[in-house]
Amino acid sequence: MGTMAERRRNSLPFLLLSAIVHFAAAAAAATANSGFFEPFNVSYDHRALIIDGKRRMLNSAGIHYPRATPEMWPDLIAKSKEGGADVIQTYVFWSGHEPVRGQYYFEGSYDIVKFVKLVGSSGMYLHLRIGPYVCAEWNFGGFPVWLRNIPGIEFRTDNVLFKDEMERFVRRIVDLMREEMLFSWQGGPIIMLQVENEYGNIESSYGQRGKNYVKWAARMAIELGARVPWVMCQQNDAPETIINACNGYYCDGFKPNSHDKPTLWTEDWDGWYASWGGRLPHRPAEDLAFAVARFFERGGSFQNYYMYFGGTNFGRTSGGPFYVTSYDYDAPLDEYGLLSQPKWGHLKDLHAAIKLCEVALVASDAAQYLKLGPKQEAHVYRGNNHIEGHNLTSYIGQGVCSAFLANIDEHRSATVHFLGQVYILPPWSVSILPDCRNVVFNTAKVAAQTSIKSTANELPLNFIVSGEKIKKPSGTSYFGKSWMWSQEPIGVWSPTNFTVEGILEHLNVTKDLSDYLWHFTRIYVSEDDIAFWKEKDMRPTVSIDSIRDVLRVFVNGQLAGSTYGHWVKAVQPVDLLQGYNDLVLLSQTVGLQNYGAFFEKDGAGFRGKVKLTGFKDGDIDLAKSLWTYQVGLRGEFLKIYTTEDNEKAEWTYLTQDNVPSTFSWYKTHFDSPDGTDPVAIDLGSMGKGQAWVNGHHIGRYWTLVAPKGGCQPTCDYRGPYNSAKCRTNCGKPTQTRYHIPRSWLQGSDNLLVVFEETGGNPFDISIKLHFSEIICGQVSESHYPPVQKWSLPDSVGGRISINDMTPEMHLQCEDGYVIASIEFASYGTPAGGCQNFRKSSCHAPNSSLVVTKACQGRNSCSVRISNAEFDGDPCRGIVKTLAVQAKCISSSEHLSAL
Ligand code: GAL
Repeated sequence: MGTMAERRRNSLPFLLLSAIVHFAAAAAAATANSGFFEPFNVSYDHRALIIDGKRRMLNSAGIHYPRATPEMWPDLIAKSKEGGADVIQTYVFWSGHEPVRGQYYFEGSYDIVKFVKLVGSSGMYLHLRIGPYVCAEWNFGGFPVWLRNIPGIEFRTDNVLFKDEMERFVRRIVDLMREEMLFSWQGGPIIMLQVENEYGNIESSYGQRGKNYVKWAARMAIELGARVPWVMCQQNDAPETIINACNGYYCDGFKPNSHDKPTLWTEDWDGWYASWGGRLPHRPAEDLAFAVARFFERGGSFQNYYMYFGGTNFGRTSGGPFYVTSYDYDAPLDEYGLLSQPKWGHLKDLHAAIKLCEVALVASDAAQYLKLGPKQEAHVYRGNNHIEGHNLTSYIGQGVCSAFLANIDEHRSATVHFLGQVYILPPWSVSILPDCRNVVFNTAKVAAQTSIKSTANELPLNFIVSGEKIKKPSGTSYFGKSWMWSQEPIGVWSPTNFTVEGILEHLNVTKDLSDYLWHFTRIYVSEDDIAFWKEKDMRPTVSIDSIRDVLRVFVNGQLAGSTYGHWVKAVQPVDLLQGYNDLVLLSQTVGLQNYGAFFEKDGAGFRGKVKLTGFKDGDIDLAKSLWTYQVGLRGEFLKIYTTEDNEKAEWTYLTQDNVPSTFSWYKTHFDSPDGTDPVAIDLGSMGKGQAWVNGHHIGRYWTLVAPKGGCQPTCDYRGPYNSAKCRTNCGKPTQTRYHIPRSWLQGSDNLLVVFEETGGNPFDISIKLHFSEIICGQVSESHYPPVQKWSLPDSVGGRISINDMTPEMHLQCEDGYVIASIEFASYGTPAGGCQNFRKSSCHAPNSSLVVTKACQGRNSCSVRISNAEFDGDPCRGIVKTLAVQAKCISSSEHLSAL
């Protein structure tokens, strides 16, 4: 690293240049400006992004627009902003924008311009990760599947066919953003872009051609003239013109590959995704806050939560193999867009604490490091900068100072001395001191509330009285009409079928227009074979060396059995009759590969030998048979899930005692539940398939159960996190509830169509509302006062001290809800946690009264944690805690109960 003077000198021409660019942009803006911001320039130095001439410390919220609906976007963006994010980050989803080569689509959930404009109008910035390879647990990593059909193409390497397609798409997006005036220098929110994604992880598989590709991608991107910085994540050999950024659970040790680049964290994995038949990962808020605080402590300047809102893989967008429809990710905003607490609130406090340090953080070129103990350290940032509007020097003299005190000991808390004061640091935690004196936040002390989501049960969809709609007794929603069903033919159903000898590669045939590929052939069985099996007491088998993701074997129209896995061997015993037998092999994909090198070569279907074994004269090589191929389901192609076309199928009424099992379509109509709570459909009574509401594909469903073991009864936030550390849902289906966005529903008569493969009971399907019913808080005298109470000049000016303030408990129901009752309150030494709090001998008798008075009937309330508030000290010399459990109900319900 050079000296500060050297670096200043080095960056001078660049600054001058950027100033000229800036003025030019500003002048142009007088006439043309998208109006979200005064046009501003973005550059960077070794310390941070420089936005409009100022270094900034930025927190960013990852939200993928197609994982929500445009109607959800404003609320998601607003909640990100309220949570303290400065930036929204999204990938661009090529497969959604160019479903057919040359035919672009930018509407509905793919209206990226609208999304970016909403971010701009909220006053937030945007980091646009164009890729166009994105990984993202998205089908085929975001590549359109037609890309693999270009003869000679090789993805993500020095291949001219690929590079042409990639450049065309990236250019298209950059041009679109420029035309819409969405770059910062046009007054838009876009401050940064990304090309490629984690290519460094697989680059070595491509040898020299991989290296050439990186250089090409960088040059191509820069030459598009977007005039904001570009990043490549996980790319240690990123060229000088591109910032290499870090992805991971922790990035505090990360250093970019040049002294002139800032330390950016593009993906802070705050949770993880789930697979069908897998458990649900959770990352504790304390550890996440620790990771973020450590990052800023050790010189980081931009951090993005991957994901801040995960959302839903609607339709067949889920990647694979085997990723579930929900992309909840244990993110601060849950799949439905509700706050996931305490994560959201704890991070909000963290962001506020970091904001208080921003002046000092950007003023220093590097931190001063102090070792405080064997596993304890401090990083101190000092500077003389002024805060706009505040003349800090008038009350602090030597300038600003902010510090982070870290205890990286996983087991023990530590008492440390720092600048003449004593601090107690909980294990695996960071304390943040915006004025180098007062701790305003510690990552292990969660003052934010917890909220427990409930699902109010609407009635099952079959709730009918002689075919008529009836009024739901306790509310205002209507459910009605009965279920009808229609059979999906097994095997060939349309003239589009074709017959060839041998086994074809699945994706070459389906082009991923459907998950399903039918293979049909006829097998002759002689009397001798039958006698042979009888004598040996054995059955013949269909044996395939390797299949993905699901194989179903049908003999004479009956399902003989299924195998699933990713490139696993399939051996299916079958019962064959004497004479000709219809053999149908149904190959299914459940989300195409989205990660790794060469996945365009991966394909699907069957590999290796495909045989019938156990015949008297030996095995039959099915690769030599004539096969008739049929892509997809009849119902899919007739679009019987849409209101316009659903009568194209023959539907018959279904009765409870006569539910057909395999390969059936079911339909019913239902009325939308009242109110604005998010809506889910519970498909836990079904097997595997897909579902549509009013023609909208809500996703694949599969009631596959997670292993019984491998979950932790409690989750210890201390120590390094990995996705197997804190898991829940063992022994239960990975997913049973599926989001139906409100905007896809109309008041009444919503068409629900379900395609079921293996069998289930549609009569038990129900509609559920998703809301936070129970909220809990647990704040003690040893917690810090609310971070939001500190103002920048007060804290850095040393005008107030922590002793002037009291910790507080803050409780809040979701919008439209109020606190109906206080179910538990104890100021003293309550035991247990949310939903099982207990009083102990130390308990202020008026606890409930005080909290009820402050909170009941309100959307939000605060209670101070002090003896004075509870009429005296319930137990002297002991640290007191207030624990509260409250129930939220909708304001309208509350009003009608009064
Ligand atoms: C990263 C990748 C993301 C996402 C993430 C896991 O490696 O860049 O797109 O797939 O892993 O959720």
